[in-house]
Amino acid sequence: MKKLAVEGLKYKYPQSESLALDNISFTVNEGEFIGIIGRNSAGKSTLCQALVGLVPHFYKGAYGGKVLVDGLEVKTHSIADIALKVGMVFQNPFTQVTGSKMSVYEEIAFGLENIGVPRSEMVQRIDEVLKMFKIEHVKDHNPFDLSGGQMQRMAIASIIAMRPEIIVLDEPTSQLDPGGSEEVFQAVQSLKKQGITIIMAEHKMEKLAQYCDRILLLDNGKAVDYDTPEKIFSRDDLESYGVAAPVYTKVCKALGAKKQGTNTYPVTLEEAEAVLKEIRR
Ligand SMILES: Nc1ncnc2c1ncn2[C@@H]1O[C@H](COP(=O)(O)OP(=O)(O)OP(=O)(O)O)[C@@H](O)[C@H]1O
Ligand SMILES: [Mg+2]
Repeated sequence: MKKLAVEGLKYKYPQSESLALDNISFTVNEGEFIGIIGRNSAGKSTLCQALVGLVPHFYKGAYGGKVLVDGLEVKTHSIADIALKVGMVFQNPFTQVTGSKMSVYEEIAFGLENIGVPRSEMVQRIDEVLKMFKIEHVKDHNPFDLSGGQMQRMAIASIIAMRPEIIVLDEPTSQLDPGGSEEVFQAVQSLKKQGITIIMAEHKMEKLAQYCDRILLLDNGKAVDYDTPEKIFSRDDLESYGVAAPVYTKVCKALGAKKQGTNTYPVTLEEAEAVLKEIRR
């Protein structure tokens, strides 16, 4: 079932000369994990914001085409209505913090209060996400006293606690070390297993290769390609879009080691190992 449909989406920020999104179309099925990649300023964050209605409701500007979230047209529904279906984690976790709550616990509770989750269920959901993102030990701390990584985990936890059907994450691991990044991907993977649809803008290609079903490659506001990680990372012209393939793919490309019976290269360590072992035989 289609959970998300973007049809000929065009968008220009007010006072801007050029299109930030230029005729983008793609669809996402329920429970899919989609990565969005592309160089800086390609339009990843703008697209994420269009999926939750901040574009055009908050940013205004010139808008054309359609975004349908679970059948709901973003342009003709309020941000509040759309927020019941789709939650977003922002690129900079600082912008997400309310600034009015004195503890991490209250910060997470805030979103749940807003959507009317009963008290007993709220306690249970908060405990669950505090554990999931390993921030139990800082639950009584002021959000502004957290490290960048802890704040990022709190921002993700507060969205996940609301259990939206679709989650949009804009570079959710930018402040995290490798261990922290892996935890986020593991948590997102477990949401996917529960049938939640995931859209993630991210620069960590190894991780996307490992976890995504499909990847949307953006450049200059245009959708260059939308396909499996294998197909996207095997493109010969990938670097011309400011994107480096996973290191495993690069090694296999250099050796001309394609996956057996395909025209594509391995994208994960496991796939690369299998192909390289085959060559050594
Ligand atoms: N609030 C804004 N007002 C005007 N122009 C903006 C605004 N935010 C982004 N832009 C412009 O829109 C284009 C797309 O930017 P966007 O932030 O979506 O790119 P991005 O792919 O997320 O980049 P990054 O990898 O740096 O996060 C850029 O040209 C950028 O300068
Ligand atoms: Mg961005």
